[in-house]
Amino acid sequence: MTTAKIERIAVIGAGAMGNGIAQVSATSGFQTTLIDISSEALERAKESIRQSVEKLHSKGKLDETARRNALEGIVSGTDLSLAAQADLIIEAVSEDKSLKLKLFAELDALAKPSALIASNTSSISITSLAAATKRPAQVVGLHFMNPVPIMPLVELIRGLDTSAETVSTALEVCRAMGKTVYEANDAPGFISNRILMPMINEAIYCLMEGVGTAEAIDGVMKLGMNHPMGPLTLADFVGLDVCLAVMEVLHSELGEDKYRPCPLLRKMVAAGHYGRKTGRGFYTYQ
Ligand code: 3HC
Repeated sequence: MTTAKIERIAVIGAGAMGNGIAQVSATSGFQTTLIDISSEALERAKESIRQSVEKLHSKGKLDETARRNALEGIVSGTDLSLAAQADLIIEAVSEDKSLKLKLFAELDALAKPSALIASNTSSISITSLAAATKRPAQVVGLHFMNPVPIMPLVELIRGLDTSAETVSTALEVCRAMGKTVYEANDAPGFISNRILMPMINEAIYCLMEGVGTAEAIDGVMKLGMNHPMGPLTLADFVGLDVCLAVMEVLHSELGEDKYRPCPLLRKMVAAGHYGRKTGRGFYTYQ
């Protein structure tokens, strides 16, 4: 299979996922641009990248060139047209379907005709994002995991019209970033969140129904199942807004009661308690 040459990557969205993807892109030698509508978000992203890169460099996991590429080489800005020269655009904005559809149409209009457009969506149909463009064969799902610099997986999702060449080019890019790729079909939540989010949702039901305290629920899953983080800690880490958005997609698209978002999850999101990023979720953070 032929693959297109990818040299420039633009990442849209400077939240935890976007800044992690931009970091790994830059340390892997791609010319990287990070775009967000908020200049404060770009500043925060720069600081996260700096801390992560310095940590990995001090442990000997990144060489000096990779360090410099990430600290000095990432171009950032608030203007979407900065993505016009990219060979691959990776969208990592909020998990909101109408926002992503609008963005995909805009990116399609400004991107080079040869450019591939990927989404880091946690659960939204790649086929429907591709249909918002005139290049559905060049649209693919690249689902990175948080924290991106540490987690080895990328889940690759082929939309209905994604071409074999797009898949093969995307695979090569992910491998160049040091990631292992597994392919999932374009179904709600793909593989990762079809399994992970119902587990997290069930943990929240256990808390709401008094089956156990947050510490006990997380402790059981950590010590009993060897999970690195308990499900409530992980929910806070991922963001309760993201967890709810994914459960809504699973519930509405698969149509089964077992995917019903837990009322306590809805309540926490309604209160603005999104987890680590707001300082409060199932636990509190400094
Ligand atoms: N950059 C660089 N280094 C980092 C880092 C980052 N972003 N994050 C953590 N580290 C390093 C720490 O500095 C630490 O290094 P050390 O051992 O030398 O001190 C090491 O990684 C381990 O970190 P911690 O000691 O802070 O804590 P843990 O041992 O618990 O490891 C973790 C942290 C790797 C995040 C681990 O808890 C873990 O694997 N948790 C599960 C993460 C997970 O499930 N992610 C997927 C979420 S789902 C998702 O992303 C999909 C979405 O669609 C919802």
